[in-house]
Amino acid sequence: MATIQLEPGVHWVGVKDWGRRLFDGLIPLPQGTSYNAYLVRGTHSCALIDTVNPGFEEALLSNLRAVGVPPTHIVMNHAEPDHAGAIPRLLGEFPDARLLTSVKGKEMAHALYSIPDERVDTVGTGDTLELGGKTLQFSDAPFVHWPETMFTYLREEKILFPCDFLGAHSAVGVYTDELEDWEAAAKRYFGEIMMPFRKAGQRALQTAEELDLRLIAPSHGPVHQDPERVLSLYRRWTEGVTEPKVTVAYVSMWGATERLVLALVHALLEQGVSVRVFPLPQTDLGELAKELVDSRAVVLGGPTVLGGLHPAAAYAALLVRALKPPAERAALLTSYGWGGGAARQAEEILQGTKLELAGVLEVHGAPRAEHYTQAAELAATLTRGW
Ligand code: FEO
Repeated sequence: MATIQLEPGVHWVGVKDWGRRLFDGLIPLPQGTSYNAYLVRGTHSCALIDTVNPGFEEALLSNLRAVGVPPTHIVMNHAEPDHAGAIPRLLGEFPDARLLTSVKGKEMAHALYSIPDERVDTVGTGDTLELGGKTLQFSDAPFVHWPETMFTYLREEKILFPCDFLGAHSAVGVYTDELEDWEAAAKRYFGEIMMPFRKAGQRALQTAEELDLRLIAPSHGPVHQDPERVLSLYRRWTEGVTEPKVTVAYVSMWGATERLVLALVHALLEQGVSVRVFPLPQTDLGELAKELVDSRAVVLGGPTVLGGLHPAAAYAALLVRALKPPAERAALLTSYGWGGGAARQAEEILQGTKLELAGVLEVHGAPRAEHYTQAAELAATLTRGW
């Protein structure tokens, strides 16, 4: 594995995981991902910023050996194992190295990796570390993505290392212009990882915007040579700016729910509304998350099965609740053969969101003409005022 020098004395020493296809047991990774770690060499000290996923320790150590300067400090911007899982091995390999992290990070390093407190120095907003001609400046950035997260900024080279924030799950490329569909990958990543933390994201964005930036080097995906490009996208996404667009996720057993869904979709298209349709459970949930980033409404379709909402639709509803998209309204389409239950369960799940339920269309048996009319009326209610 080769290292890459981003600037004199600043090296990418991470790992590309081309074969990984699932993250957190939840998020599909069609392009794999990278665990970006960076080595910053000063004249008297050397800091490693973040590490790699467990299982890649040898690759990271090999990269560090290739640069030839052992780290005196390891900066843990984030305690999640894909960035911090190699820290125990690193601290063993470099017994004099200090671990630098936030106060909460210290607690988590102990809880997750049994790192002894005496190996850890805590830093917070405004603290700096002088490496000799290179100065690291730290900022707390809680909840992008966990409560302990922080940013590291290299003053002289004007490089921000924001760990998960502003990243993308892709193993492709060193810089964003090498990734043809970078914006789509970044949006998908935002939907999956950052959308539930939009308020925290706005605060973190403000922290980034107060810095003079030449490069942004996140810990997943390519490095940004045009910081404003990603920052301007994040302004919209963290603010929750939506488009006149409806995301539809549905599952059907014998076609009744599907016919209702398609009638509503047709009515939306006739109105000139943009629609994204995801047949469950074949859907790539990352694509669903991506569309939720700026959809103004969500439609859930699922029949009753075994007295409740079809499990695939329930999963989608739970996902919507967990991801907290900025959409304003929802609609529910459902059908049943001999006894309902799906509508009640779906409404219970969606009660945990800020979505206004614009309407529920529930059909006993196969949809008839009046139901298609009702689906069209529901489309109009869903989009009123757009
Ligand atoms: Fe890439 Fe929250 O870890």
